[in-house]
Amino acid sequence: MGEAREELYPLKRDREESDRLDHQHRYLVDLFGGNAIHPSIPKDRLFDIADIATGTGIWLKDVSKLLKDVPTDRPRYYHGFDISPDQFPSEPGDLHFSVQDVMKPFPVEHQNRYDLVHVRLLIGALKEEDIKGVVANLATLLKPGGYLQWDDFDMSSMTLNNKDEYPFNAEIVQIMLDFQRNSGYSLCLPARIHEGCQQAGLASVNRYDYSTGEKPELREKTHAWMRRAHRALLGVGLLRAGRATDRQSAERNVEEMIKGAEREFAAGCLPVIVMGVVVGQKS
Ligand SMILES: C[S@@+](CC[C@H](N)C(=O)[O-])C[C@H]1O[C@@H](n2cnc3c(N)ncnc32)[C@H](O)[C@@H]1O
Repeated sequence: MGEAREELYPLKRDREESDRLDHQHRYLVDLFGGNAIHPSIPKDRLFDIADIATGTGIWLKDVSKLLKDVPTDRPRYYHGFDISPDQFPSEPGDLHFSVQDVMKPFPVEHQNRYDLVHVRLLIGALKEEDIKGVVANLATLLKPGGYLQWDDFDMSSMTLNNKDEYPFNAEIVQIMLDFQRNSGYSLCLPARIHEGCQQAGLASVNRYDYSTGEKPELREKTHAWMRRAHRALLGVGLLRAGRATDRQSAERNVEEMIKGAEREFAAGCLPVIVMGVVVGQKS
C-alpha cells in the first residue's frame, strides 16, 4: 500500500522541488487575495492548527507568523503531517512535524484536537475513490466547532480555448488531462471534497473558486508559477499520458514544449485553471 502510494505521487522531494513549493505557496496566497486562511474562518478562535501533506511546512510557517498578530490567552500549537519527512524544515522552531499517511487513522493524541485542519494539493496523491475516506479521516482531527480547509485544483476548469493561436499550451492542457485520467486522479477534486465534507457530517460546507483567468494583474506571476510546474510535472505527465516511452525522450519533449509555451505567454496567452477552497465545520 505504502509503495503504491509513493509510485502514485509524481513529484520529486529534492531542494529544487522544495523551493518550487515555497514559491508556489506565495503565488497561491496571492491568487486567494492574500489569504492563507480563508476569510470565512474566524482567526480569533484558532489555537491548535494542523497542516496535512505539509511538504516543506511553508503554509504552517506563514500562518504561525500571521496569527502572532491575533491576540490569544493561550499558546498556539502547530503540527505538520506528511507521508515523507524529506521536505520537513531542518530548523522547525516552534512547529511540530510527523510522518503520517492521510489514508491511515491518525494517532489518538491528534484526534479531536484541532481548531483548523488545512490541506493543500493532494491532487497528485489520491485516487478519486479515496477522497471521501480521506475527508472522513481528517474530520476525526477536529474539535467540535473546528474547521477543515482544503485547497486543490479543479482540473476540469483547464480549457483548450485558442487551440489554433496557442497550440503548445493547448497540448500541455491535453497532456495534463490525460495524465490525470490515466493516474486515476480526480478531474473535479473540489467537488469530491465538498461531497466528502457533507458525508462526513461537517456543517456549513462551502466552496470558493479562484481562477487564474480572473486575475490578469497576476499574469507575470501566473506564468512564472506555470513554467516551474510544467518543468516539475510534464515529464511524468508525458509518460503516464502514454505520449513518451522513456524518461529521456520525455525530457526532450518537455524542453520543446516549455519553449513553445513561453513564446505563447509572451504573445498574450494566460492559461485558465481554477483552485477550489472547500471549508467545512465540525458541529
Ligand atoms: C504538491 S505537495 C504540496 C505540499 C504542501 N501542501 C503545499 O501546498 O506546499 C504534496 C505533498 O503531499 C504529500 N503526500 C503525498 N501522498 C501523501 C499521503 N498519502 N499522505 C500524506 N501526505 C502525502 C507529499 O509528500 C507532498 O509533500
